[in-house]
Amino acid sequence: MATEKLWGGRFDSSTDAAVEAFSASEHFDRRLAQYDIAGSKAHACMLHACGVINDADCQAIIDGLETILGEISEDRFQWHAALEDVHMNIEARLTELIGEPGKKLHTARSRNDQVATDLRLFVRDAIDQLCTDVTGLQESLLILAEREAATVMPGLTHMQAAQPVTCGHHLLAWNAMLERDWQRLGDCRGRVNISPLGSAALAGTGFPIDRQMSAQALGFDSVSTNSLDAVSDRDFVIEFCAAAALLQVHLSRMAEEMVLWASESCRFVDLGDAFCTGSSIMPQKKNPDVAELVRGKSGRAIGNLVSLLVLMKGQPLAYNRDNQEDKEPLFDSVDTAHACLKVLGAMVPNMIFDRERLREAAQRGHTTATDLADYLVRRGMAFRDAHEVVGKAVRFAETQQLQLPALSLEQLRDICAHIDNDVFDVLTLEGSISSRDHTGGTAPGQVHKAVAAARQALAAH
Ligand code: ARG
Repeated sequence: MATEKLWGGRFDSSTDAAVEAFSASEHFDRRLAQYDIAGSKAHACMLHACGVINDADCQAIIDGLETILGEISEDRFQWHAALEDVHMNIEARLTELIGEPGKKLHTARSRNDQVATDLRLFVRDAIDQLCTDVTGLQESLLILAEREAATVMPGLTHMQAAQPVTCGHHLLAWNAMLERDWQRLGDCRGRVNISPLGSAALAGTGFPIDRQMSAQALGFDSVSTNSLDAVSDRDFVIEFCAAAALLQVHLSRMAEEMVLWASESCRFVDLGDAFCTGSSIMPQKKNPDVAELVRGKSGRAIGNLVSLLVLMKGQPLAYNRDNQEDKEPLFDSVDTAHACLKVLGAMVPNMIFDRERLREAAQRGHTTATDLADYLVRRGMAFRDAHEVVGKAVRFAETQQLQLPALSLEQLRDICAHIDNDVFDVLTLEGSISSRDHTGGTAPGQVHKAVAAARQALAAH
């Protein structure tokens, strides 16, 4: 097959071999092939409808592109680094297959609007895939949250036991992060789904093209409004990678808690044999490697975002070859998020919480101290005074090596005469969690309501 440069006309000598290897991108941008072919088909049909190419040429181009798509999907396509990128590999093969008509496909088009089109189609699909993946993980979380709606565990601030919460409530906090990620990806999709096709190299084209027509054929919502911007803009890649990085940060935070909860000192959860690995030297170990890898992989997503921001910051209008460097970080962010969401989605239903240990942990650290202060406020004391009194009660309990709820009524009354027997209703874990019975609160009834509301949100995904 001919591998002559499709742009070779004005050159006397051939490209330096090192330059050819340095500038080739076909080994990674071949991933855009299906989008490149879809874009070319839409472009050819539009050229035909506008009278730029004839029936026979258009049909030959469409048939040839379909043949190429088959070759690529069956791994029979011969890729050539000398042809630089996915676009020129496909175009050269098209001309090899169909002759003259193949050379007409690039009329009224440049690789600059071509690659921008391919990339937007790729990102659109990636968003749809990740939204499905996020929804899958959310579904798993909601089942677990419902199951653990009344399970009491310590809620932490500063990593110190703070107040009792329900495990279901905690899992719903994870779901809330993911719901925002899903929304963010959807917001981003609107700005991705705009057609740059027709912008050509940078200034548009003199051919009588119909940009709406090719945009519609490709499922774009609208066409870009400035050709210089359209060929050079990679905001949509950055925005997507920002949404992916934030998603990955959320997954990392979840993974961190899984690691913590599975640790020997907590033993709050069993992550399941299928989702843990052993040690090559310590026979007793069952390590939370999957969660650790999810946490570790978040670094990639953040790095990819930073790479892209830096890639763009110095670029003058319009297209510059720098932009070829946008693909690998983008692909890596997509693959990383997809893999992490898939593995977590499978892992979450296998998490078995040790309700007894969670409960014991919630009982340590005087976690209902705030409830006692609130009790005193309801009896007429100002909150700051109540805070002071309860602080004293905690100090006294510590000297007795007791938890606050274990103090006797006499001991409590010695500290504050306003306290009666009904204080024990609020000092218990159940009393504490069931009192937080409002939208967004931790009471088991609220967890059930929140799960139902979250399911409604998922139904709209
Ligand atoms: N491989 C190139 C990229 O990824 C395609 C566009 C090349 N355009 C050009 N004028 N050299 O950006």
